[in-house]
Amino acid sequence: MEGQETKKVMLSGIQPSGKLHLGNYLGPLQHWPRMIEDFDCYFFLADLHTITVRQEPADLRRQTLELLASYIACGLDPEKCTLFIQSHVHQHAELAWVLNCYTMFGELSRMTQFKDKAAKHAENVNAGLFTYPVLMASDILLYQPDYVPVGDDQKQHVELCRDVANRFNGVYGDVLRVPEPYIAKVGARIRSLNMPDTKMSKSIPEGCVYLLDRPEDIARKFKRAVTDSDTERCVRYDPERKPGVANLIQIYAAATGKTYEEVEQEFDGKGYGAFKPAVGEAVIETLRPIREETERLLKDKAYLESVYRAGAEKASYIAEKTLRKVYKKVGFVQR
Ligand code: TYM
Repeated sequence: MEGQETKKVMLSGIQPSGKLHLGNYLGPLQHWPRMIEDFDCYFFLADLHTITVRQEPADLRRQTLELLASYIACGLDPEKCTLFIQSHVHQHAELAWVLNCYTMFGELSRMTQFKDKAAKHAENVNAGLFTYPVLMASDILLYQPDYVPVGDDQKQHVELCRDVANRFNGVYGDVLRVPEPYIAKVGARIRSLNMPDTKMSKSIPEGCVYLLDRPEDIARKFKRAVTDSDTERCVRYDPERKPGVANLIQIYAAATGKTYEEVEQEFDGKGYGAFKPAVGEAVIETLRPIREETERLLKDKAYLESVYRAGAEKASYIAEKTLRKVYKKVGFVQR
C-alpha cells in the first residue's frame, strides 16, 4: 500500500449515543491513529444514526463533543485526517434517500442488528431503525473508501453496503467504489465482563468499561468479571468452554499487543486471582492518557469547534462530488 501516488481511502464512524467503551476502542478505534499516516482517512461522529433510538437532546450534544475529544485524544490528529459530525454534511441524508430505492426490504429484514434492536426497543420500531444500514452505506460510499475499519458486529452492514453499491453500479456503470471491511484480528468482538456470551455494549452497563471511567471503577469491574465455572482454573484461551477467560485474554492481548500464547505463558500457574487485576491494570494504563487528554480537550470548546467546522468543509467537498455523480446518473436535472 505504500509508495503509491494517491493514498488509499479509509472511513469509519462511531455513534455518540452514549459513552465510548472498551469494545469501541480495542476493536476499531485504537488502530485508526496508525492508519492516518498511510491512508486518506475520514472519521466521523454518526449522530444521525443515534436518533433511531430516543436520545436526550442535551446528552446527545454533550456526548458528540466528548466523542470528538476522545477521537483526538486517541491520536487522530485533525491535521492529518478529516474529523467531522455526520449531521453537518447534508449529503449523507440525501444519498441515503437514493440508495433506499436500491435496497431491498428482504435484505434489511435480515440484518441481525435490526432484529436485536427491534426486540430491545419494541415500543419504537421506527422506519429509521429499519433503513439504518442504508444511511450507513451512504456514509461510506460518499467518500469512495477502499477500506472500512469496524468491529465484527458491523461486518454485515458493510457487506450490505457492498451489495447496494454493486447493484447501483450494475444499473449505471462504475459509479461507486465497492469497499472492503477491515477487521482487526484481536479485539474485533470484546464481550461483556459480566455476560461473556454477549458483546460489550452500552446496553449492559455493568459489564461495560468506559473510556472515561475512573481507574478505581475499572479495577472493580475487572475484579468482578465473570471467569468460568470450569474446575480447571487456569488462564487458557478456549472461547467455547471458557468464554469469560477468553474475553479477558483478548482484552489483555489487545491492550498490551501480546499474542494469546504470550498471555497464557505469562499467567501460567497463576490462577484468576492474579490474572483479573492484571487485566484491569493494563486497561487502566492504556486508558489513562486518553481520559486525561479528553478531559483537557473538552475544556477547549473553541478548538473542538474549529476541528469539526474544518472537517465538515473538507468532507462536504468530497461528498458533494459523489452525490452529483449519482444524481446525474439517476436522471435528476442538474442544479
Ligand atoms: P457503533 O457506534 O455501535 O460502534 C462503533 C465501532 O465499535 C465497534 N464495536 C465493537 N468492537 C469490538 N467489540 C465490541 N464489543 C464492540 N462494540 C462496538 C463497532 O463494530 C464499530 O466499528 N453503524 C456503526 C456506526 C457507523 C459506521 C458508518 C461505521 C455509521 N456509519 C460507516 C463505519 C462506516 C455503529 O453503530 O457503530
